[in-house]
Amino acid sequence: MSSVIAIDGPAASGKSSVARQLAEKLGHLYVNTGNMFRGVTWAVLNAGFDLKEKEAIAAYASELKLEFVNEGGHIHMLVNQRRLTDAELNSEAVNGAVSHVAQVSEVRTRLVEEQRALVARGDLVMEGRDIGSVVFPDTPHKFYIDASEEVRAARRSKQGLNDTVAMRDKLDSTRKTAPLIVPEGAIRIDSSDLTLDQVVEQVMGELRSRGVA
Ligand code: C5P
Repeated sequence: MSSVIAIDGPAASGKSSVARQLAEKLGHLYVNTGNMFRGVTWAVLNAGFDLKEKEAIAAYASELKLEFVNEGGHIHMLVNQRRLTDAELNSEAVNGAVSHVAQVSEVRTRLVEEQRALVARGDLVMEGRDIGSVVFPDTPHKFYIDASEEVRAARRSKQGLNDTVAMRDKLDSTRKTAPLIVPEGAIRIDSSDLTLDQVVEQVMGELRSRGVA
């Protein structure tokens, strides 16, 4: 059975950078599940749905052709055979819509299934909102990367991204299915006053003590 390192946390907490570096150091595959929700959202918007049409979105999402390719250790999702660009995945339209699409339970069910199937590809570092709580509740390696709201908003604007971090967090934390929580057994790291290297080192130290790294 492949090993899974679950990295959860709110928007712009630094979890993507941490997860990418960990995957590289450990030689695991890196999986960004936020990009999967973003990919489905891009397709939903491109097909012209109104975000209120939850049933139509659910039906459309279950028909989407989703494939996963390994590009240099990073798993990317193809949507209807299309490899979306970072600009498309992080557009203002997708930022504004993704947390609404992520509330549709059929979308979650479909993506959770795809995420679980990725263990067949090898050891994983998977980041998201519900990885330790719902997708892989049995993995012993769960980390929750946090940061203050001010620090997170500053990080996003430094990246030049116009994102509605607070709005997404509210929707993500209060939704009925798989809300953002600190999973049971997770180690919570507040990255507000830490450098990326310091956070990665804390996680690596913990994994070393468990004989994983
Ligand atoms: O990680 P990122 O901020 O790119 O995620 C975009 C959105 O996708 C989140 O705000 C959330 O609504 C949704 N998401 C989710 N479950 C995950 C990963 C992301 O609901 N495991």
